[in-house]
Amino acid sequence: MISHPTGKFDNTAKDYTYIKAVPLAAAMGAEILGVDITGLTDDQFAEIRHALFRHKMVYLRDQKIGHADQEAFSLRFGLFAEDAYTEGVDGHANVQPVIKEADHRAPAIFGSGWHTDSPFLRTPPAISLLYGIEIPPFGGDTIFSNTVLAYETLSDTMKSLLAPLRVHMSMAEVVANTQRTVTPDDTPLGRIAATRDHTRLPDDLQRKVDGAYHPLVRTHPLSGERSLYCDHTYACGIEGMEANEARAILDFLVSHMTQPAFTCRLRWAPGTLALWDNRICIHQAFNDYDGYRRVMYRTTVAGEAPA
Ligand code: SIN
Repeated sequence: MISHPTGKFDNTAKDYTYIKAVPLAAAMGAEILGVDITGLTDDQFAEIRHALFRHKMVYLRDQKIGHADQEAFSLRFGLFAEDAYTEGVDGHANVQPVIKEADHRAPAIFGSGWHTDSPFLRTPPAISLLYGIEIPPFGGDTIFSNTVLAYETLSDTMKSLLAPLRVHMSMAEVVANTQRTVTPDDTPLGRIAATRDHTRLPDDLQRKVDGAYHPLVRTHPLSGERSLYCDHTYACGIEGMEANEARAILDFLVSHMTQPAFTCRLRWAPGTLALWDNRICIHQAFNDYDGYRRVMYRTTVAGEAPA
């Protein structure tokens, strides 16, 4: 069923005192105006944090920041999370490059399927911050979907059916697809591709393939909102179910969660800094800008075991 969720979610902006929030779409997302993250007061920070939980994804334009500024801003939300794909840039282990070169052509790029960040970890990152430096003249957008709204639009019967279930999140599919289709090189996916001839995966990669089981419906520890914790990239099974039973439920949930009515789409510009809460939205990068360079840097903030 195609949803038009009027009345199920309120994405209007609060009347903040120290920042201004301008909603991006009916379903989620907002631009934050009136702040420079390098000179942020505690009051401004508190309102940005509130806006992030309210709108699920917020973004600020024209931020002139270096790696240290991005690290300092991230640390105001909490400790850095484990990053499952990269080892950071020189001198900034927690700043992850997300770079696609103009001449790099691949069927998959980093983040190009609907996903929540690193759910195969026992404690997946709560918040991700992505800063754009070089942006293609068109393409390279990121699309987000509000998983609280997706949960809210389910029937009470479906909600009861899902309530006790635990989803298996694993990197298995990413590793298999990457080994099959990506050329080994020194990029996050290229390094996974380089394991294609190994008889066994390195222990750290095997741990991510083994993955973790999490509640399929999770509760946000701060706002108390319930959301669907499921995605297209990593959700691969449901505890206690046969593979075909789980597949039917997961396929339904992913198609439900990714309906246009639940989404917003962010057009990047150099200097845009976006933050999203992985507990209450999923996202997807577009692989549609061959011939242009895209340079982004990501930090992630540690979360809790989903409950
Ligand atoms: C990511 O999935 O974290 C990257 C998103 C993007 O590059 O737009």
